[in-house]
Amino acid sequence: MNEHPDTKFRTSLLEDNDGPGHNPTENRTMGEIIAARFSRRGFLKGSLAVSAIAATVSPIALITADNARAAAGASAFTFDEVEAGIDDKHHVAAGYDADILLRWGDPIFADAPEFDPANQTPEAQARQFGYNNDYVGYIPLDGSSEHGLLVVNHEYTNEHLMFPGIVTIKDGKAEVAPADQKRVDIEMAAHGMSVVEIRKRDGKWQAVRDGKQNRRITASTEMLLTGPAAGHDRMKTSADSSGTKVLGTLNNCAGGTTPWGTVVSGEENFHGYFLGELAAGHAEAANFERYGIPGESYEWGNFYDRFDVSKEPNEANRFGWMVEIDPMDPNSVPKKRTALGRTKHEGAESIVAPDGRVVFYLGDDERFDYVYKFVTAGKFNPEDRAANMDLLDEGTLYVAKFAEDGSVEWLPLVHGQGPLTAENGFASQADVLIETRRAGDLLEATKMDRPEDIQPNAANGKVYVMLTNNTKRKAEQVDGANPRAENAFGHIIELIEDGGDFAATKGKWEILLKCGDPSVADVGASFSTSTTANGWFGMPDNCAIDAAGRLWVSTDGNGPKETGRTDGLWAVDTEGEARATSKLFFRVPIGAEMCGPLFTPNDETAFVAVQHPADGGEDWEGFGRPSYYEDLSTRWPDFKDDMPVRPSVVAITKQGGGKIGV
Ligand code: FEO
Ligand code: CA
Ligand code: CA
Repeated sequence: MNEHPDTKFRTSLLEDNDGPGHNPTENRTMGEIIAARFSRRGFLKGSLAVSAIAATVSPIALITADNARAAAGASAFTFDEVEAGIDDKHHVAAGYDADILLRWGDPIFADAPEFDPANQTPEAQARQFGYNNDYVGYIPLDGSSEHGLLVVNHEYTNEHLMFPGIVTIKDGKAEVAPADQKRVDIEMAAHGMSVVEIRKRDGKWQAVRDGKQNRRITASTEMLLTGPAAGHDRMKTSADSSGTKVLGTLNNCAGGTTPWGTVVSGEENFHGYFLGELAAGHAEAANFERYGIPGESYEWGNFYDRFDVSKEPNEANRFGWMVEIDPMDPNSVPKKRTALGRTKHEGAESIVAPDGRVVFYLGDDERFDYVYKFVTAGKFNPEDRAANMDLLDEGTLYVAKFAEDGSVEWLPLVHGQGPLTAENGFASQADVLIETRRAGDLLEATKMDRPEDIQPNAANGKVYVMLTNNTKRKAEQVDGANPRAENAFGHIIELIEDGGDFAATKGKWEILLKCGDPSVADVGASFSTSTTANGWFGMPDNCAIDAAGRLWVSTDGNGPKETGRTDGLWAVDTEGEARATSKLFFRVPIGAEMCGPLFTPNDETAFVAVQHPADGGEDWEGFGRPSYYEDLSTRWPDFKDDMPVRPSVVAITKQGGGKIGV
């Protein structure tokens, strides 16, 4: 019998990505290899020596930091910075409005019931905006920046914040009541994605409740598996002998909007939805261990056999994929594109290479896991949308190996090449994709500090990689691309592919930013000296490039203890003398994480997603209540609409109109 999970623990499990699926390989990181070399010469003595080695082998990063410190020039951003801090409200730069556009529970169909949290039903939830909004995509209708389809991921559910009366405090410890069928069904309906038509009228965005493309996708929506792993024996279950039909998508975190106007959505911590025990000696044991399956964060397997690995072991192989949906057609069947690999996917931002192939950058968010990219075999056809609709079924998946000399190599995950052979348990490309992580292990990819969003920038030909943190990295495990031991605050890498060709298999990298408080020398942060006490941040997670080619970074994990500030959206200079200068533009209420962000094509609106507001925060005095496990029915009347205590998408616009940050 599965013990019901402590939901507070669940949040940290899902967000810290410290599950049992951590990379167990003995592959030495580049830092270890170099450290060993220096060690033989008697140079390696403790962490100071390691820092010196990292400095020696990664001079580009140091030069960048020195330049930034020496002369931080004019920023590309013009706005008055928000003061960093902590309270139960959101705050945006002066002269801007931050309006809640859609909240968990908002009805998104003409016939959908109004939100009633004390009497929620699975049927109502399936017609309402889902929980924990993460990725936000915007599909313009008729090219408009004031009328389009908002496509939003609903990553996971926080039961203690959703269901009144299920938490009791015993001996100062919160206990969540075990789930029943109805609660599980509401949770499943609150997962997935929403497509909502939105329109700007008189300067304010509104959801169009009867929009004809409006749609909810949930953990029960029928979808297809496509690409090389579809139909493989390891994908078949008792409900689906074809190995191609699957119900639902889970833990949809970040994503990307393709050049042909579909949205790809990443299934991240899918391991948490499975419980039960795999039979002893089961053929999938190594696979499951590498992904941390079963994670036992949810109780769904007590009500649905497919989430119990002792009954339906192959069901877990049908999650961990990138899902492509066509927002324009509410009847289209979502497709899990297996060619893009199976990992704890973060996002999938893309760009068209000079020869017309399309390149997707993919992070696998777990400590010591890898950075990937996928290059389509076919070319994007801007004249014929239909011709692009299956581009994601054929192409090459690569994993990144970052060298100490500032070069990066993209290693193909192709069956039959290198160690990816039957001898090593890969009988076909389907096996390589189902066990993408193990294939990356064998190729000796670089173990990274939790790769989250990765964003190519068409304006300068560079690619930005958010690495959120990794407190488990030991001093002897640092390398040039992951240069800090016990990396609590994360960093951002900038890549440039050879020849400016995003499809290239080699490139160069340097560190744009090491995050954390730059006034504390031991932290080793590298913000420019023009960055104010409000402007620095920790834990970069999502990011966006606006139409002007500027970088915006949102964070996950700042808080009273960590950084003395809530999460937020920061504007980060990448060019010229202002490089590595950061400014705070928007911050979220206590307990929330900042997702999105996304700019309309005219840069006049920034959509941001506020996830799990009011979660945690018990260590913040000003919360004004003994516990965040308080009953919703007593807590909610205290919050006004400008305090987004529900997960919300917020539209930020300039008062009187105009481009953001200009
Ligand atoms: Fe769902 Fe890696 O953030
Ligand atoms: Ca994220
Ligand atoms: Ca996150």
